[in-house]
Amino acid sequence: MPQEFADAHYGEVTMATQQLPRNEIDSLTADPRNGTFSSAQWLLYFQDNKKSRADIKFTNDISVPFSMRAPLIRSLQRFQIGETGEGKHLRKYARMTKDPTYEECIDLFIKEEQYHALVLAQIIQSMDGTLLSWHWTDLAFIVLRRMLGLKTEIFILLIAEIIGKCFYNACANKLDDPRLRDAFALIVLDEIGHLEFHCDFLREQMKGYPKGITQVCYFFWSILFLTACFVFMADHKRALEALTVRPRDFLEDCSRSFRRAAMKADMVPYVQTQLP
Ligand SMILES: [Fe+2]
Ligand SMILES: [Fe+2]
Repeated sequence: MPQEFADAHYGEVTMATQQLPRNEIDSLTADPRNGTFSSAQWLLYFQDNKKSRADIKFTNDISVPFSMRAPLIRSLQRFQIGETGEGKHLRKYARMTKDPTYEECIDLFIKEEQYHALVLAQIIQSMDGTLLSWHWTDLAFIVLRRMLGLKTEIFILLIAEIIGKCFYNACANKLDDPRLRDAFALIVLDEIGHLEFHCDFLREQMKGYPKGITQVCYFFWSILFLTACFVFMADHKRALEALTVRPRDFLEDCSRSFRRAAMKADMVPYVQTQLP
């Protein structure tokens, strides 16, 4: 079950009402060492996810304490911009793989992110917040992602996905309003799928690289990841405080997901106890 999968790999995810038919994800993610990347299987996953997508609508009667609104709006505005992109660069790189099925997966992945942007926009507006048109953290991620081709783009994207997944998970677990909890939990499940998809692809791409090169890549990836986490925690300090999430716990949550992603991408040795 997706819920069990999510709990096992990424910590508790609140899922109050939905039971999504995402059984494919189990077979896709059971053991990171087995099998090869199958864009056809991932396409099935994304198509299924699209079909079973819940229609989320928010009105102004959501219950968020007034003291939480300003910091939450401020953080969600930044995420909303990050989720909005058209993914032109990623699509261009995907075309270079000469795998039209992978291109379709990327297209559906970008549409899922754009759907998250719509949901976040509704949440922000239901708390009387406004939407931003740009933010420097989004620009910084875009510049970094475009530096060195598809693999770099995916490495950087994964960092943003991990931090986003952990923040949405905090919202799903800490907010009181059941509709907000469900909406964030649904986004978290999508983000888990994205992490698995990108890691699966990276593992295939990194096959054949000498171990030394993989270790150097992992070293620099880890430094970038930790830097991004600390910048995020400083920039979103008030929202984490409002959600009563200690920075140390947030960092641990992100680090667990990062470690899991690195194992899945075969960048670090597989540890049996952390996976079924
Ligand atoms: Fe997203
Ligand atoms: Fe994502």
